[in-house]
Amino acid sequence: MNVKLKVENLSKIFEFNGNRVKALENINLEVYENEFLTVMGPSGCGKTTLLRIIAGLDTPTEGRVLLDGREVKGPGADRGVVFQQYTLMPWRTVLKNVTFGLELRGVPKDERIKIAKKFIKMVGLEGFEDAYPYQLSGGMQQRVAIARTLANNPEIVLMDEPFAALDAQTRNILQNELLKIWQKDRKTVFFVTHSIDEAIYLSDRVVVLTARPGRIKEIVEIKLERPRDRTSIEFLEYRKLLLEILKEEVLKTIKRGE
Ligand SMILES: Nc1ncnc2c1ncn2[C@@H]1O[C@H](COP(=O)(O)OP(=O)(O)OP(=O)(O)O)[C@@H](O)[C@H]1O
Ligand SMILES: [Mg+2]
Repeated sequence: MNVKLKVENLSKIFEFNGNRVKALENINLEVYENEFLTVMGPSGCGKTTLLRIIAGLDTPTEGRVLLDGREVKGPGADRGVVFQQYTLMPWRTVLKNVTFGLELRGVPKDERIKIAKKFIKMVGLEGFEDAYPYQLSGGMQQRVAIARTLANNPEIVLMDEPFAALDAQTRNILQNELLKIWQKDRKTVFFVTHSIDEAIYLSDRVVVLTARPGRIKEIVEIKLERPRDRTSIEFLEYRKLLLEILKEEVLKTIKRGE
């Protein structure tokens, strides 16, 4: 297994208005090529911080991130990010939102439209190319965000609770679509979620972080064939296991009154 992404001795301290918050402490992690890796942990344990540092949107206090052996120094087209909030450009159509990154990279018009249409179709939005974001439901907007990210052909897709704002049914549908795309495209996915069910359904491995400062508490490999059956005994056993691992850390966070 090739290592796609490597996080080395990474720590992050935020300093603001005389406060000092240690968000992450000595994170060491390898994400393999084509792997679907999920990070979980209580609120405020540093998941988004870790994702943002990998994306190059923030810098570590100590340690470093390597993508294909090269140190991450800032944002780049090799990493595609999907956030929880829909981050579409409201003044551009679906098609124009998806072609945006390609436009920036100078891909010729005909070609970028062809690529964009392919991914719009892949996320099930064929026919909505000319719609504006306000004309779409939340789930549809998040599909556009995913299509936009994939159209840029990143080496790794970073997703921060991408389905958290969606209703349960839409969420399940998008999980399946994401899995289909992941299996077809064989991208490496770095995924953050609060949902144990989602983590087990999607992931090859689940990394559980401790309460702040986030350290790696445990890594659970999900050894289930796909498509996974959420009602199987094995699935329920993973659910129990992750709940147990997470509980202690969530309680710590609650006791601190966060
Ligand atoms: N820009 C910032 N300046 C100061 N502190 C920050 C900043 N960003 C995050 N923090 C702090 O770092 C810690 C980790 O935050 P982060 O957003 O990474 O947590 P999280 O695990 O993503 O939480 P959630 O599950 O609620 O999304 C928190 O204590 C937060 O207050
Ligand atoms: Mg977060």
